[in-house]
Formats: sequence, C-alpha cells, structure tokens
Amino acid sequence: MREVPLRPSVHVLVCTNLRASDAALGPGCGDSGERVYDAFKREVDRRGAHRAIWIARTRCLGVCPKHGATVIVHPGADVLAEVEPADAPSVLLAALDRTTKDP
Ligand code: FES
Repeated sequence: MREVPLRPSVHVLVCTNLRASDAALGPGCGDSGERVYDAFKREVDRRGAHRAIWIARTRCLGVCPKHGATVIVHPGADVLAEVEPADAPSVLLAALDRTTKDP
C-alpha cells in the first residue's frame, strides 16, 4: 500500500446501484444514478476542476430513493437523496463554498 499525495477539495459519491425491478428494496438508483453521475462529471468539466473535484460511482449507499439517486458529498459526508441531474451545479457550488469557509 502507498499513500498518494492527491486530495480533492470535494469528493462526490453517486449511487448507480441497479437491482431487478421486482427487488424487495426497489430497483435502486440505477439509471437515475448514471444520469446524475454524468451531470456531475459535466459540471466538473465545465469548471475545469478535475483535480479539485472527484466524482465516483458507488453501489448502494443505504438510502434507496423512489426517484433520483443518493449522493454523499465530502467534506462533511452530507447524504442527499432524490438527487436529480439538475441538482449537480448547486450541490457542487455549496460543497466548494463550504471548503473555502472551513479552516
Ligand atoms: S440503491 Fe442507491 S442508495 Fe440504495
């Protein structure tokens, strides 16, 4: 193991977990998660902030919404459910704003 000297200012985990449509826990974030992930990536591209903002797909984050996707935003580990693609810019703006205010 080795530590890598890179640290994002903001790290966003987007659930893209997909279950069978008849699964007891629901279908998961699946396709919505992929659209939300793409929206975050587009926003990072638009800002040219690839070093400062990392976006990653994950499996289930434990809060399975009926629509949209679940997202966890670091720093702070904020858990957001029912996130839609249109939310990506404001989520990143709030997270970046927080990083400039926190010591
Ligand atoms: S399937 Fe996305 S949070 Fe559970």
